[in-house]
Amino acid sequence: MLALDNDALRAAVSRVRPDPARRARYFLYDILRRNFRALAAVESLRPPLRFAYSVKTNPDGELLECANDAGLYAEVIGPQELDLAHRLGFGSRTVYNGPHPAWRAGDVPGVIFSDSPESFAENARRVEGALVGIRVRPPGVASRFGIAESQLDDIVTAIRSSGRRTTGVSLHVRPQDFGNRSWRQIVASGIDFAREIEKRTGAKVTAFDVGGGKTPVEFDQSLAAGDFAWLLRETLAALAYAHAIFAEPGQAVVTPGAFFVAPVLEIRRYDGAADVVVDAGYPDLPQIHTFPHRVLALAGNDVALLERGNDRILGCTCLEYDVIRDDVRLPAHLDALEAIVIADAGAYDHSMSFDFARGGNRPVDERIGVPGG
Ligand SMILES: Cc1ncc(COP(=O)(O)O)c(C=O)c1O
Repeated sequence: MLALDNDALRAAVSRVRPDPARRARYFLYDILRRNFRALAAVESLRPPLRFAYSVKTNPDGELLECANDAGLYAEVIGPQELDLAHRLGFGSRTVYNGPHPAWRAGDVPGVIFSDSPESFAENARRVEGALVGIRVRPPGVASRFGIAESQLDDIVTAIRSSGRRTTGVSLHVRPQDFGNRSWRQIVASGIDFAREIEKRTGAKVTAFDVGGGKTPVEFDQSLAAGDFAWLLRETLAALAYAHAIFAEPGQAVVTPGAFFVAPVLEIRRYDGAADVVVDAGYPDLPQIHTFPHRVLALAGNDVALLERGNDRILGCTCLEYDVIRDDVRLPAHLDALEAIVIADAGAYDHSMSFDFARGGNRPVDERIGVPGG
């Protein structure tokens, strides 16, 4: 549903006909819009499931407009993101979920998940008109965010003394922090945490949020495995007053929505293998070592997805680890190779990219398929 398969990726790159001589990032708005609409369609089949797009993952304005047009929530982690979401018209469809205390923002979000009992107390005291909840850290998860089970008494006290009769509970755990547990087991311990809070405070838990962290393929597999149906069943069985159950996908939605074109600068041949040095690198693709990005070769009108092999694609900075791929098979007719396309670059590869060794020259952003919707 959200993932772009190899054939569709090749077709998308061919359709765009990128300039192989120019280092640029291409945003594919038709794919991004498709993904936001797909989420909205899942949501409409499964009330009270709500998807909140995680703004930080890629805060591009047009992309956020696609999320807003699809009726999704915006998940924000700080005042500037909240301001952006409000300027773009998300209104009360905002979920604030970060360690920058929400009460310090000038604006009021729809829902706040506080990162600590201290933050909860201040948010509950100062912010009118928002549901104020707490982020929890499921047992066994090493994280700097949210409250641990050992802080249960503190949050119970804070909720009771706030006088609030409703609250919410959220969690977000990166898959690399799951240990030997499944997503369902992690979420189940979050539900237990929420039930305990409800039982001990008497405040109704009306919102429960499971965060993001899935790649597009993992999200699709999770949907196909019935994880969201399971989530609704389990949450509603345990939390009788829950009327909003949030998931906050970021990278699952936008990863396939951009690719990077890196002109070939040099071809190096040695025994049995070859390297190409390209006009792009780690600063343009800071997630290159976090998950496998598909790569394609551009040669004349030919667009070919590269298979696994012994060749390398090297970035052009002085960073030792600036290796884009070290396990591909470059095309046989290497001299015709004009550029390498690095796909799956629409999420943190964009928002976390940085200026390094370019004298301040950012890559060009090309926007494909924006107008019209
Ligand atoms: C609370 C919360 N929700 C959602 C996300 C989005 O995760 P991703 O973009 O990895 O799906 C994050 C990422 O750090 C997060 O901290």
